Amino acid sequence: MNIRSSKKMIKVIKKVRAMQKLADLLRREGKTIGLVPTMGALHDGHLSLIKKCVKASDVTVLSVFVNRLQFGPKEDFGNYPRQFAMDKKLAADNGVDYIFAPSHEDFYNSDFSSFVDVEGVTKNLCGSARPGHFIGVATAVTKLFTAIKPHKAFFGEKDFQQFVTIKKLVADLNIDVKIYSGKIIREKNGLALSSRNAYLSDDERERALVLYRSLVEAKRLFIAGEKNALKIINNAVNSIESQEIEIDYVKIVDINSLADIKRIGEKALMAIAAKVGKTRLIDNIVLK
Ligand code: PAF
Repeated sequence: MNIRSSKKMIKVIKKVRAMQKLADLLRREGKTIGLVPTMGALHDGHLSLIKKCVKASDVTVLSVFVNRLQFGPKEDFGNYPRQFAMDKKLAADNGVDYIFAPSHEDFYNSDFSSFVDVEGVTKNLCGSARPGHFIGVATAVTKLFTAIKPHKAFFGEKDFQQFVTIKKLVADLNIDVKIYSGKIIREKNGLALSSRNAYLSDDERERALVLYRSLVEAKRLFIAGEKNALKIINNAVNSIESQEIEIDYVKIVDINSLADIKRIGEKALMAIAAKVGKTRLIDNIVLK
């Protein structure tokens, strides 16, 4: 793709102070600022959030920041896909006005020691599988909010627990940002889009399809009358393990508290995290 063919001049801001000054100016002009926070390696899931944001805001800011704080010591921070020139072109083509892309040193001062810990909703699912992950996410997102001063921010539902955590964060700390979510965007074959899909070999990509298939099967069972969470979970576990995929968790949880439930009422969230080869993938479906 020709990186120079961007439709629109887009401005990249690297320093927190410069971003704050710009945000103050935009707010004085009465502009509504929308934020799409990302770690880059943009795919159609991000682009659908950007489109929503552009529609709902006068000015759209995309943040591109691979946040070291939310990666565990054995996780993929070093390998995480970075493709800034391509991200910039995609952002410009989709109506983004500014990219906020600080370096780690610009974002976290060298003696940084203040962390945001959203309790409760971060305990289960990825919270127990990735200790410290949501402290990293909540701290970074809080700092993105104080740097960009958005009126609105947009998060994908693939990271459902992250979305719930950020909603709780803004409610608990009176942060004046409206949080919106965007549906999971999938490939035609059902694979949920993720920047980490780039790590998958052809064979792994094929085997990974079982994740969504087992969620769809779970929903079918639920609609057919099965309300016992364990039965639905065991069925999914068997299908996933048949593809030699290492399960991190398969859970059915309350859609608000994200705590495990045994019997499904009107509505619940079924969530999966699993390692396909070395790649950790997550996916979910609402049972209702
Ligand atoms: O979802 C992500 O890409 C990240 O967790 C976020 C929200 C940008 C925070 O670093």
